[in-house]
Amino acid sequence: MTRKPVIAGNWKMNKLQAEAKDLVNDVMAGLKQYDKEKLPEVIVAPVFTSLYVANKALTDCGCGKVRLAAQNCYFEKSGAFTGEASVEMLKDAGCEYIIIGHSERRQYFAESDDMVNKKAKAILANGLIPIICCGESLEQRESGVTDSHIASQIKNALKDLTQEEIAKSIIAYEPIWAIGTGKTCDSVEANRVIAMIRNTVKEIAGENSAEAIRILYGGSVKPETIKEQMAQSDIDGALVGGASLKADSFVKIVEGAM
Ligand code: 13P
Repeated sequence: MTRKPVIAGNWKMNKLQAEAKDLVNDVMAGLKQYDKEKLPEVIVAPVFTSLYVANKALTDCGCGKVRLAAQNCYFEKSGAFTGEASVEMLKDAGCEYIIIGHSERRQYFAESDDMVNKKAKAILANGLIPIICCGESLEQRESGVTDSHIASQIKNALKDLTQEEIAKSIIAYEPIWAIGTGKTCDSVEANRVIAMIRNTVKEIAGENSAEAIRILYGGSVKPETIKEQMAQSDIDGALVGGASLKADSFVKIVEGAM
């Protein structure tokens, strides 16, 4: 089976509305020369306050080459949850994907495996696609628990999802020590962990779901690293932080995945 590659830009807490609009327009200008069919699935994830302008820029262009994601959601439909946004609200704002379980949310905002699972269910129930993040700390890697930790994060995140729901989900393997540090994980090692994740998905949901699910690598992805990463058997794309904040480096990463 051939899986369509995914290049997603996680803008984290960056960009005011005017900057977000410019970045979306510059990315689309950079991708203008390519047929939509040849491109990977290109996704950008602005902050909540810039979703409106980003969505407007994308729909005004009408080229359909770039899709919108949110960086977080809450799993309840509505109600007294100050500061949160539901999946339905994010869908209404134009999002087709939602990133959940990012290590920064787990670390600073106490997002637990159970919350990630509830969010995944709410996202899929609304017809959106979760981008489920997992990854080990340096301490976990050095003490040899990388694989067991990640397998446990994945089993918890995918608990009680159907095989079809799992097949359409996206996972991002992001070793915490590689995020924002410039220390990209060696491609062969990233591929080994991602193959282990795919095998875990196979145990839970069977061969077809494991073959269909897209599993990305994230952590200091740059234009210089993407070709080697994409050449690996199990890496289906990238979740890009810092290098997605500039149109030229993000577009080069997209090109590297073609
Ligand atoms: P960097 O690409 O800046 O290392 O960030 C990776 C990341 O956390 C994407 O979600």
